[in-house]
Amino acid sequence: MSEQTLSMRLERVATHVPAGARLADIGSDHGYLPVALVSRGVIVSAIAGEVAQTPYRAAERSVRESGLSQQISVRLANGLAAIEPQDAITAISLCGMGGETIRDILEAGKARLSGQERLIMQPNGGEQPLRQWLMENGYRILCEEVLWENRFDYEIIVAERSGPVPYTAEQLYFGPLQMQARSPAFLAKWQRLLRLKQKTLADFAQARQAVPEDRVQELTRQVRWISELLG
Ligand SMILES: C[S@@+](CC[C@H](N)C(=O)[O-])C[C@H]1O[C@@H](n2cnc3c(N)ncnc32)[C@H](O)[C@@H]1O
Repeated sequence: MSEQTLSMRLERVATHVPAGARLADIGSDHGYLPVALVSRGVIVSAIAGEVAQTPYRAAERSVRESGLSQQISVRLANGLAAIEPQDAITAISLCGMGGETIRDILEAGKARLSGQERLIMQPNGGEQPLRQWLMENGYRILCEEVLWENRFDYEIIVAERSGPVPYTAEQLYFGPLQMQARSPAFLAKWQRLLRLKQKTLADFAQARQAVPEDRVQELTRQVRWISELLG
């Protein structure tokens, strides 16, 4: 993979960034996503935000070597603190972090959201709490997908603020649009997770020390939901 050639995961994320956007890529690491989108002429400018020194320097190097320093600003900052009002950001990508981390970044940086930006998120797990935050903050989920790459399931969630949208507990768990679309990748993900969760439940039953009842009940509920989903 290079600045120009993205992984399939980031390539799918890239398709959800609107043409002509001013993008803030938070947790940019190597900065490949903004560099690819600007050098392809898809977006006009970008911020690559990083909280850690080593990835920040990697992003600086990618941007310098691509000759795009005029269009991409690399900033060492925690979460949405990388964004200033004059950036007039229209899309924010938050990819390759846990869903809880993405949620915490959004919650901590709420004041920096104009409400006009499209959020393009690729959580590594923790999708349910992230969707919960989106619902509680008036975001509608516009698009969702699951993909399988390098032996991992990845989810992409695209949302925009639209006013209240109520989602059920199952929709927050599985993803409201994915539940409808039932793509092969989505079904395969939940078949794998069902096997894992059933095995964990069986291990709980064999465990020498009692597992807290609320954990057993929560896992039992998840197994029931997944079994119903898969029919
Ligand atoms: C696994 S990398 C993902 C890089 C890239 N977004 C991708 O999807 O390939 C996650 C990056 O997020 C950064 N990160 C984690 N928490 C952050 C925060 N609060 N603000 C900015 N960056 C953060 C980490 O330093 C790390 O470089």
